[in-house]
Parts: sequence; structure tokens; C-alpha cells
Amino acid sequence: MIPMTTPKSPDAQPAQDAAPSLTPSTEAALAPAAHAPASPGATHIRSFVHRRGHITPRQRDALEQLMGKWSIAYAPRVLDCSAAFGREAPTILEIGFGMGETTEKIALARPEDNFLGVEVFNAGVGSMLHRIETSQLNNVRIIQHDAVEVVRDMIAPDSLAGVHVYFPDPWPKKRHHKRRLLQPAFVALLASRIRPGGYLHCATDWQDYAVQMLDVLSGEPLLENTATDYAERPAYRPQTKFETRGLRLGHGVWDLVFKRKG
Ligand SMILES: C[S@@+](CC[C@H](N)C(=O)[O-])C[C@H]1O[C@@H](n2cnc3c(N)ncnc32)[C@H](O)[C@@H]1O
Repeated sequence: MIPMTTPKSPDAQPAQDAAPSLTPSTEAALAPAAHAPASPGATHIRSFVHRRGHITPRQRDALEQLMGKWSIAYAPRVLDCSAAFGREAPTILEIGFGMGETTEKIALARPEDNFLGVEVFNAGVGSMLHRIETSQLNNVRIIQHDAVEVVRDMIAPDSLAGVHVYFPDPWPKKRHHKRRLLQPAFVALLASRIRPGGYLHCATDWQDYAVQMLDVLSGEPLLENTATDYAERPAYRPQTKFETRGLRLGHGVWDLVFKRKG
């Protein structure tokens, strides 16, 4: 088990400082995620620091009106994906979808797949809900909760067709590296939830995180690299907002695509 700690400095996280203007009922509905860092199940180091953040009226309205329609509440029991999506189809888990631009594009381009997006950030969830509704993305569902707990508690072993982790928070300071999502224990857990032949696709614009990802993914016995080291960006992954910013700052971008062994 990874040791319990209290989240500290939120460097490199999206700005989320102002009080959200949600109605009491929406606040109550979001409470499990909002209080995640202090939840009794918090037995691992969080990869995020949940702060109250600014949300736009559109995101707030989407949270108010669409959570019940497109989101699944976190619960410590295995999710029945066919019931959740209303059909049998390969399920791709996306961890940390941010504002959901990439999720929307990929879900539109791959209507034959189900996409389960996990995010903790209210504005991002509101934005994704709005996209699902306006683009009629019947193949997307959201869980607003810590992905580590979702994978641990809600995803059946050997069940996922794929996992997307795009531009996870880099936690650039060395003393915060322990907060990075892609650590050996979590990658082992993730790999156990991917079905044989399924894939894990990660991308980052932080070189030392790319090196860490390559090291951790290569060290996981259930996974094998589809490339010699870093992969070409697969055609289905569009360039994200974070990637565009990284490229502008002169960073490189590294994709890693590993397959679950049979
Ligand atoms: C740097 S952003 C990248 C967003 C998006 N993937 C993109 O490429 O634009 C990382 C996102 O991961 C989310 N996140 C971090 N740790 C998480 C966790 N344990 N569970 C769910 N979401 C998480 C953050 O809230 C944030 O929105």
C-alpha cells in the first residue's frame, strides 16, 4: 500500500482559486469528489490538490442540469459498463480529461467505442458535460472522482480495451514527484484492468516525466512497448491545449503506447 499523506502545495495545477457559484444541491452532489483529499479511503498520495475554482456560467449550468444524465457516481463496487453505456462495446478509460477537448474529438471519431472519462476538477466536468450534450456524445460517461480509486474499486480486471492518460499534471518540483500519477503501483493496477491485447497510451510534454513513464511502463511485467521507446503520435490523438502550449514553450511531446500482454 502507498503511504497516506496530506496534500500540500499545488504548484503547476490549473488555477482554481475563486469560490464556485453552485447551488447547494449541486455542491452536495459533488461533495464526495470535493472532499476527496480527506476522504477515509485516501490511502495513497493524491496526484491532484482539489481547490475551489472559478467556473463559467455554462459549466455551472451543465453541472446543475447534466450530472444526472451523463455521470456515474463513484461507488466502491465494480461498474457494469454495458449497463452504464446501454450497449456492449470496447471501453476506453481516460484519466484527467481536463476541459474535454480531446475526449470530444476522439469520441466523435470513434463512435464504436465507449469512453469513460474520470476527472476531479469541477470546471472540467462542467465543460465535458456541455460537450456531451451539445455534440450528442452517447458514447461518453463521466465519473468525478480520484482515478486511482475509480480504477481500484470500479473497473473489473482484464476489462478495458484501452486507457488514455494525456498530459497528466507534471509536478515539476522534485519534492512533488511523488504526486505524479504514473508510479509503479498505479501502473500495475491499471495494467491489471486492461484486457489482454488492450493498450495504455500516455503523452506528456515534460521530458523528465516522459523518461519516468518509459521507465515505469517498461518495468511493468504485464505490459510491452509497441515501439522501441517513444511512439509516433497515433492518428486518433489530436493535439491538445496543453500540448500546443508546451510546443510554444519549446517543449517536446512524447507519446508512449504499451500493450497488455496476453
Ligand atoms: C494537466 S491536465 C491535462 C488535461 C487534458 N488531459 C489535456 O491534455 O488537456 C491534468 C488533469 O488531470 C486531472 N487529474 C489529476 N489527477 C487526477 C486523478 N487522480 N483523478 C482524476 N483526474 C485527475 C486534473 O484535474 C487535470 O484536469
